[in-house]
Amino acid sequence: MKISVFGSGYVGLVTAAGLADMGHRVLCIDIDPTRIESLRQGKIPFFEPGLGDLLHRNLRGGRIAFASGLDGVHSSSDAYFIAVGTPPMSDGRADTSAVFAVTDTIARESRRSALVAVKSTVPVGTCDAVQQRLDRDCPHPMSVVMNPEFLKEGAALEDWFHPDRVVIGVDHEDAERQMREMYRPLQLSRERVIVMSRRSAELTKYAANAMLATRISFMNELARLCDTIGADVGSVRVGIGSDRRIGSSFLYAGPGYGGSCFPKDVSALVHLGRDQKVVLSVCEATQTANELQRRYVLEKLLALFPEGMSGKTVAVWGLAFKPETDDVRDAPAGFVVRELLQRGAIVRAHDPEAAESFARAYAPGNPAVSYHDREYDCLDGADVLLLMTEWRHFRNPDFDDIRARMRGDAIVDARNIWGVFKLGQRGWRYVAIGMR
Ligand SMILES: NC(=O)c1ccc[n+]([C@@H]2O[C@H](COP(=O)([O-])OP(=O)(O)OC[C@H]3O[C@@H](n4cnc5c(N)ncnc54)[C@H](O)[C@@H]3O)[C@@H](O)[C@H]2O)c1
Repeated sequence: MKISVFGSGYVGLVTAAGLADMGHRVLCIDIDPTRIESLRQGKIPFFEPGLGDLLHRNLRGGRIAFASGLDGVHSSSDAYFIAVGTPPMSDGRADTSAVFAVTDTIARESRRSALVAVKSTVPVGTCDAVQQRLDRDCPHPMSVVMNPEFLKEGAALEDWFHPDRVVIGVDHEDAERQMREMYRPLQLSRERVIVMSRRSAELTKYAANAMLATRISFMNELARLCDTIGADVGSVRVGIGSDRRIGSSFLYAGPGYGGSCFPKDVSALVHLGRDQKVVLSVCEATQTANELQRRYVLEKLLALFPEGMSGKTVAVWGLAFKPETDDVRDAPAGFVVRELLQRGAIVRAHDPEAAESFARAYAPGNPAVSYHDREYDCLDGADVLLLMTEWRHFRNPDFDDIRARMRGDAIVDARNIWGVFKLGQRGWRYVAIGMR
């Protein structure tokens, strides 16, 4: 099939490279000319394990190309995928303007009937509006399909090629048949396609993220309770996660969820409820608990220094919102570092992938923050070590070396990964979340 993918971010680029690898002829389009130029040279604008190799293979094979607009060949695509951003507006609602800008391009430039598959996460009713716009403005009949994306940054290729499910929201049998055909190579080992209405598919994406975010917030609240009553949230996690009705994933207490999806999608869902006069109190509580949680980490650190943070040096290990990504959008580390800087602290940070994006987003040109390629280098003279992201190489540190380099004796483990080392008994002031 001839396919055009709009957007070359995490979702668009993985979709385009994945479809090309399945033998389709793909054009990936983005309005950012620098991004297109570097993609043409095979350079990925963000960190995603394995994506570089996949892209090079398909560039070499001539199955994928990049452009800032539709070309003569792809204006007669069989399918158009919309994978542009839907960031939060200042009121917390999702901004769908890029989705409609792409809709207008397709209406204007397509030369034949085709599928229009929306991969962007969009409020319920958006696909109906896209369909109406195409019916009104496009000379050829177009079928709009909601095909939400469930990939995880850091494991995007595994998720693309071995998805738990492929949700297809359709209103026409013909569109369903074409979507099934497109995803046939992913269906070889078992049936993964789940078909539903477009509105249900739109809501399914928000519901999945809100459910996962709720589990995290629930455990974070329990962790705060554990801290006050002397229980251990790690034990509670194992105790409830072993119940098959509950399951063990997304039960880790920490500094709260972040990233480009959970915060904005929970917020968009809350607003969707409000617009429909349906109070989504669980989602609202999930959001509130998350905001409290990043502040809770900050307060735990501040409590170690009753004299204040002015002139104190904080070594920060991990800046990305989770390991295996350089994405720092809404990262808990962003909030904590900003608050520390406002209080006069000096920050020495290490992240194997996210230092550059973090500096750009949170502290451009700020001389009070320095970034270090080696995690041990940022410890020199530090009063406290703050662990914000659980990259694998932080799992087995040499605490004697850490102690020799630091001025202070405090560790804040916001990911609860060092409990096993019994640091409290080894002379450290060790602070974790809901455990000692
Ligand atoms: N990142 C994830 O893990 C993830 C997972 C599932 C779903 N989603 C959803 O997928 C969508 C895309 O997310 P992302 O993280 O890939 O976004 P992103 O911000 O990384 O990339 C979006 C890209 O779209 C481009 N763009 C904007 N307007 C355009 C236009 N009119 N034409 C062509 N390109 C345009 C931007 O320049 C940018 O490169 C969002 O709705 C998001 O909620 C994201």
